[in-house]
Amino acid sequence: MDKLARNKEDIEETNIQYEYINKLKNIIKSKSDSLNRPLTYNVTTFGCQMNARDSEKLVGILEEIGYIPSKDENADFVIYNTCTVRENANNKVYGRLGYLHSLKKKNPDMIIALCGCMMQEEVVINKLKESYRFVNLIFGTHNIFKFPELLYNTFKSDDMIIDIWEDTNRIVEKLPVSRKYSFKSGVNIMFGCNNFCSYCIVPYVRGRERSRKPEEIIDEIKHLVDDGVKEVMLLGQNVNSYGKGLEDNINFAKLLQKVDDIKGLERIRFMTSHPKDLSDELIEVMANSKNVCNHLHLPLQSGSSRILAKMNRHYDKETYLNLVKKIRNKMPDIALTTDIIVGFPGETEEDFLETMDVVRQVEFDSAFTFIYSKRTGTPAAAMDNQIPEDIIKERFNRLLEEVQQISRRKAKNYTGSLQSVLVENVNSQDATLVSGRMSNNSIVHFPGDDNLIGKIVNVKLSECKGFYYIGELHE
Ligand code: SAH
Ligand code: SF4
Ligand code: F3S
Repeated sequence: MDKLARNKEDIEETNIQYEYINKLKNIIKSKSDSLNRPLTYNVTTFGCQMNARDSEKLVGILEEIGYIPSKDENADFVIYNTCTVRENANNKVYGRLGYLHSLKKKNPDMIIALCGCMMQEEVVINKLKESYRFVNLIFGTHNIFKFPELLYNTFKSDDMIIDIWEDTNRIVEKLPVSRKYSFKSGVNIMFGCNNFCSYCIVPYVRGRERSRKPEEIIDEIKHLVDDGVKEVMLLGQNVNSYGKGLEDNINFAKLLQKVDDIKGLERIRFMTSHPKDLSDELIEVMANSKNVCNHLHLPLQSGSSRILAKMNRHYDKETYLNLVKKIRNKMPDIALTTDIIVGFPGETEEDFLETMDVVRQVEFDSAFTFIYSKRTGTPAAAMDNQIPEDIIKERFNRLLEEVQQISRRKAKNYTGSLQSVLVENVNSQDATLVSGRMSNNSIVHFPGDDNLIGKIVNVKLSECKGFYYIGELHE
């Protein structure tokens, strides 16, 4: 890999953070010597796959400096990696902070840290400063690579440390990461979002879109494969605009082709695809690929062209339906999933029926349905005609009913078929079963033990239980 191709300042940053990691190792060692026990950490992740991946980076550093995992929040270092995409995500964090305070009263040396998307909001920081003084460290999404330095500063100071950046163009590579699963991993291909859908807070808290260099991504995936990873999920808020702003002649379709060519990698997923940028070239690469999974998540948000325009989505009902046709034309049995928002400002019964119509026409394999949540600072929050809660609830229930009925019907069609399954874990409710994921992202439970974890095996789906299956191993 051409290391010189990376920004010199960013390469130096990696070294600077490693120096802090070394200093922290000494601090943790002497603390643990004096306590005569290891120090423990607990990381809680809210929100999306991006946050999950960021948490693996935090854990990587914590383990590198000598912390060991704790099964609960009764730990020496506790961090919440927060999400703010909807209001209820926010409320959860405040609720749990109260509980952390009670734990800290029993263990005054406990360090409480907060990071992630919610911390990028000024109102949140003001509230924390005023009423949550027991929090030791607060940082945001743009400076997560400074975690070692910030943690070092926390040990050296009695004050609450707050470091929030408004934006960044920096991408700092090669810091420690500790994966939650040995056999699968998320891989960031880009950060931030430039789409400014009018309801969405993500562009404000994750900053401008920037892509990682293809050679950094490929290099990371090759290392993951050497380390036993079979499945990667390429992560970006809109993977279809990958590569913009890079000097290389690259786009998402070309990157996906390169990833598909990596020897030893068995499965590729990606998240999320914005319909406005999904190219014919990408459909072609997916259809001809060896390892890209038989699943596409294609957020619809609304089926009404009028609402889609107000949402700033840059496609209409017809374009979406045509896109689905084009995709199914090349990949007839691909599983399609989606996100839908109910109750966007000004949504009429007619608009809602357009959404129901698209749901019926496309027959999504599954759909995440969300009640519109007003996010301060977004254009939609200032729009007239916010929809009353009872109307939203009633529409939401109708949509959920329809979506679930279709999902169940579609899932049934696979009963009796043989599927290749990546085994993920022993079933939490029944230890005689293991659970795995099919290429189309459905879950199947079948008799087996932990020797199967991380293996790709053939499973016969004997029974459909609505949204998941019971199966049996096919030797
Ligand atoms: N970048 C991805 C989605 C990120 S957020 C994309 O464009 O598809 C995940 C989902 O949360 C979105 O698809 C949307 O359906 C939902 N969402 C975002 N903002 C929301 C809001 N203010 N209220 C309700 N749902 C919202
Ligand atoms: Fe939000 Fe739209 Fe960006 Fe997705 S594409 S993160 S919905 S602004
Ligand atoms: Fe939430 Fe941030 Fe992801 S707001 S959905 S964690 S990008």
